[in-house]
Amino acid sequence: MARLLHYAAHPAPSSSQANRAMLRVVRGLEGITQVDLYAEYPRYDIDIAEEQARLLAHDVIVLQFPLFWYSCPALVKEWLDLVWEHGFAYGQGGDKLKGKTLLLAVTTGGPQEAYSAEGYQHFELRTFLTPFEQTARLAQMRFLAPYVFHGALKRDPAAHALGFGTLLGALRDERLDLRAAETTDILTHDTLPLIGIN
Ligand SMILES: Cc1cc2nc3c(=O)[nH]c(=O)nc-3n(C[C@H](O)[C@H](O)[C@H](O)COP(=O)(O)O)c2cc1C
Repeated sequence: MARLLHYAAHPAPSSSQANRAMLRVVRGLEGITQVDLYAEYPRYDIDIAEEQARLLAHDVIVLQFPLFWYSCPALVKEWLDLVWEHGFAYGQGGDKLKGKTLLLAVTTGGPQEAYSAEGYQHFELRTFLTPFEQTARLAQMRFLAPYVFHGALKRDPAAHALGFGTLLGALRDERLDLRAAETTDILTHDTLPLIGIN
């Protein structure tokens, strides 16, 4: 079993549909450490030592958030800025995340077709997520294709949320084809590369 650490970050959970549905499913899973980042640090007073200890104690790190201005909500960035510091995540002696896996789970307001050169967002979603991808690379981590729910404000999130549970369960039980998950563009509930199934 992989040791899985799941962070959820939504600044307004009471108005959330998609991320809340995903969270409900994750809460039913066993053997996964779960952190609600905004609930834990409403005043942004991140406990760096505690967060680094959490990261050290796990193999797979999952960051779940709604896309805000083509990036993560502010507390996720603050958490990255403070916790993934020199000597820990990068630089001299900064190999503490080496060999671990990073998975982003992102919901977007824009529909899938908007995220292309021809669409109104003009770029692929993966282009907006390159800072996370390169951060993982610098930290010598494995970066999986993000688990994405496009058009989150207009679609029923039920299948996506259930798929998220399947994905995290498979990561925990080491039943996800990591090579396939690394080389594909995005993961969705109906394109999960589960070992022994696809
Ligand atoms: C401050 C803010 C910025 C946003 N920026 C984007 C964006 O850059 N691209 C996009 O597709 N949706 C954007 N959205 C829409 C959110 O991604 C969308 O509301 C969210 O994914 C829905 O998930 P939820 O139901 O869990 O809140 C933004 C929403 C807010 C409030």
